Amino acid sequence: MSEQTTEEPVTIVPENTEVVSGTEVQEKLILAARVFSDLLKPTFGPNGLDKMMYKTDGSNAVTNDGAKIISELMVKHPAAKMMVSMAESQEEACGDGVTTTMLICGSLLIEANILMRKGLHPLKIIDGFRLALDVSKNQIIKDEKSPDTTTLIDVAKTALMGKNSTSSSNIFSPIIVEALLTISENRENTLAEHVSMYKSRKGGISDSKLIKGVVINRRILLDSLPNNISNCKIVCLDSDIKIRELSRNTEIKITSADNLDTFIEEQKSRKKQISDSIIDSGTNVVFCTGDIDKEILHSLADSGIICIGELDSSELRNLSQAVGAKIIETPLDIHDSDIGQCGIFSWERREQTDRVEDIIRIDNCTTPSIVTIEVCGGEDVVVEEIIRGIHDALRSTSISMKSKVILGAGSIHSSMAQAVRDEAEKIGGKERLSMEAFSRALETIPSTLVENAGGDPLDRILELRTATMKGTNSFGISPKGTVVKVKGVWHPSPLIENSIESATETAISMLRIDQVISSKNTQ
Ligand SMILES: Nc1ncnc2c1ncn2[C@@H]1O[C@H](COP(=O)(O)OP(=O)(O)OP(=O)(O)O)[C@@H](O)[C@H]1O
Ligand SMILES: [Mg+2]
Repeated sequence: MSEQTTEEPVTIVPENTEVVSGTEVQEKLILAARVFSDLLKPTFGPNGLDKMMYKTDGSNAVTNDGAKIISELMVKHPAAKMMVSMAESQEEACGDGVTTTMLICGSLLIEANILMRKGLHPLKIIDGFRLALDVSKNQIIKDEKSPDTTTLIDVAKTALMGKNSTSSSNIFSPIIVEALLTISENRENTLAEHVSMYKSRKGGISDSKLIKGVVINRRILLDSLPNNISNCKIVCLDSDIKIRELSRNTEIKITSADNLDTFIEEQKSRKKQISDSIIDSGTNVVFCTGDIDKEILHSLADSGIICIGELDSSELRNLSQAVGAKIIETPLDIHDSDIGQCGIFSWERREQTDRVEDIIRIDNCTTPSIVTIEVCGGEDVVVEEIIRGIHDALRSTSISMKSKVILGAGSIHSSMAQAVRDEAEKIGGKERLSMEAFSRALETIPSTLVENAGGDPLDRILELRTATMKGTNSFGISPKGTVVKVKGVWHPSPLIENSIESATETAISMLRIDQVISSKNTQ
């Protein structure tokens, strides 16, 4: 007997669930992506403008750092959320190129939308995009070169350029390269995290400098202590500088005055043991994570030895890596090999401030594996943006030291676009249309650079295509918006590669969505 079919629709989701299908889905996703990438467009390149981010708690930031803007936005739309995670992964992998990635992803989706309206199936578009991505990655390999120190300074300058003024880019780029090269001499894997940043809130930006060591904010407990020591020996102690306290439950019975004297004498002699051990070690300064006994502090000060307490363990670790000291657990057993050294130890009292900490500089270390960039200048909002720029530049430069570099200013994007167009001509199927669309999306980079410089994007892109087609892949856009042979604008190749790869993958994952199911929370 055949089964009875029912005409009644089967409801598997609550009534308040909205289901959108077909091209309408892609149109909506693409619109959201476009709004998002348009938001970042004006911040792009050397002429990029800033955004002021203001929160209801009163804090604000002025920035054109793509990652910072995105992290501050409370994005709701699912497509925009996909772009947020793409931006985050670019920031995490390379520390720069977030706006580039957003612009390419937005353009890929706009181009895909035009093709879909012409009737091209999303899967055909995806196939074309994948082919184009491979061609682009091959072009990077053809165009990249190994960097020398001058090129590394250019990499740092290029990463800073988007965020900072030309003058501050010129100040910080050699400092950044010197910082990373210094570390690379003393450790195998040089990372941006090995460079600390210190805001000194004084002087002007041009007073900023590299400290081959660390800066620590702590109070120097006695004013009479020396504030400038050359070839200073340093001990790093992960404990207190005092005799061990009795535990709460211990009871000491003193039955006679003699007993009390003996007890006090015993304590004194234990304190003397500690100070003698430190004095005998020949050290000039002891840093520790715990408290310092007043008597020991004074007796060490009499010998010109400075004790600084209550460091965080991370501060002590950084310090030990800067001065080449071993972190020890007791002041009673200090060996020569435990002691580190710095060329100049100095401290200064802050003026006109209610902060009770002094600025302690441990500089000119001989083999530092941690260094510090001291950023001077008073205006906090400006300094914060400079520091964000330095972070990006440190990442870009440290990646470049381990890989190869590629010309920026729209040059590599124009060169990849040309390679994709050439390859597309060899393909007969519909993927060709999609590859051509991909190459136009890559040209958004030079085109936006022209637009933000106040030029005419269409004319300049045609001019750039002609220049690139002649076979020289070094033409790009100058800060004035004209087509020029690019000089001194370099990016690490992995940054460009990662950026087009994640832009393409995000665009593809949006094109694969054919239904959006949204349920409204009625509670
Ligand atoms: N001196 C310069 N001349 C021309 N173009 C430059 C110059 N310096 C940088 N650029 C270009 O500007 C673009 C980078 O701009 P920007 O730093 O604003 O964006 P991003 O690096 O993609 O994103 P973000 O820095 O916000 O993470 C790159 O294409 C780079 O090649
Ligand atoms: Mg940048």
